[in-house]
Amino acid sequence: MITTARLRLRPLTLADTDWWVELHSDPEVNRFVGAYTREQATARLTAIEEQWQTRGHGLCAVELAATGEQIGRSGLNHWAQFDEVEAGWTFARAHWGQGYAAEAARAVVDWGFTTLALPRITAMIHHGNTASTAVAARLGFTVLREDTLAGRPITVHALDRD
Ligand SMILES: CC(C)(COP(=O)(O)OP(=O)(O)OC[C@H]1O[C@@H](n2cnc3c(N)ncnc32)[C@H](O)[C@@H]1OP(=O)(O)O)[C@@H](O)C(=O)NCCC(=O)NCCS
Repeated sequence: MITTARLRLRPLTLADTDWWVELHSDPEVNRFVGAYTREQATARLTAIEEQWQTRGHGLCAVELAATGEQIGRSGLNHWAQFDEVEAGWTFARAHWGQGYAAEAARAVVDWGFTTLALPRITAMIHHGNTASTAVAARLGFTVLREDTLAGRPITVHALDRD
């Protein structure tokens, strides 16, 4: 469990399947990260649970500390094809523009550097995703390289522990 001034982060599990489908069903939310059927969400959350078990990190549900409402997801995902750990951030539209993504991501990055001792954390951002690029910039990420993810062009941003 990671806590910040306004938020609580806890590991996502298969019990979050319906919530995951709902979060990604909004076209504004899924524009860059994609939508999920129930079957696809089950597969993704199974992989997230496995990553928590095998690597000790993974994606988290983000809850408002004041109410317990689940407002988004953040956390650290290992991408085997890049052998890199990425910080992610996706929030329900009603909770954009309040600094929650940056607050959660800052705590996740701090956890990755101090507790997990990761040397580098990346953020893979599709071209045109200005809101996500702004979150990365707020945290001090800089551009590392251009790449592709599932056949789509991305810019890989990175922050080094040192
Ligand atoms: C990417 C995403 C998480 C960014 O959300 P966000 O709310 O814009 O990001 P932040 O948490 O950094 O909030 C910043 C905004 O909150 C405002 N804000 C309000 N109160 C604030 C506070 N207390 N502290 C900090 N910022 C605050 C800032 O001024 C800023 O507003 P601006 O965008 O008008 O300049 C969101 O757009 C999203 O979920 N997109 C869909 C999924 C997605 O593409 N994810 C990224 C994949 S790489």
